[in-house]
Amino acid sequence: MKERELKFTLRVFTSLSELLTEDAALLSASKNALKDSYSPYSNFKVAATVLLQNGEIVTGTNQENAAFPVGICAEGTALSAASALYPNVGIKKIAITAKSGTHVLNHPVAPCGVCRQRLLEYETRFNSKIEILLMGEEGEIYSVSSVKDILPLNFSKEDL
Ligand code: THU
Repeated sequence: MKERELKFTLRVFTSLSELLTEDAALLSASKNALKDSYSPYSNFKVAATVLLQNGEIVTGTNQENAAFPVGICAEGTALSAASALYPNVGIKKIAITAKSGTHVLNHPVAPCGVCRQRLLEYETRFNSKIEILLMGEEGEIYSVSSVKDILPLNFSKEDL
């Protein structure tokens, strides 16, 4: 038996001013879009902004449904919209933020498992790493360089 340690690097920033202007703008676009979240059931707003390889920016928010499982996460909305509007264009970055109806989010919220898989599809499809930027309402900001960092031992088209 041998052990393999899987590691990834989380870059941690203390404020938006520490980020590249481009990255701060993506997170700000997500923050501005939180108002468009349709989340009457959870009262938890999430927004995701995608930067495409052609420079276009597409934002999505979570869209809930009375039949709960039918709801779509912000990441899913943003990725699907980006892919529908700009088919065959790869994704460079995604900036995600959230706001709770009950408490101040003082830490970033990471994508759910399903959204990690959704993100992985675009990373493998275009064979190009997607940087993920995460921010709560206040506190630290995180950045990871690749979807695979937060979805190790994944299943992708490379396995089929
Ligand atoms: N949500 C997202 O939009 N993205 C995630 O990665 C996690 C959860 C949404 C789904 C639901 O509308 C609400 O947050 C509460 O789970």
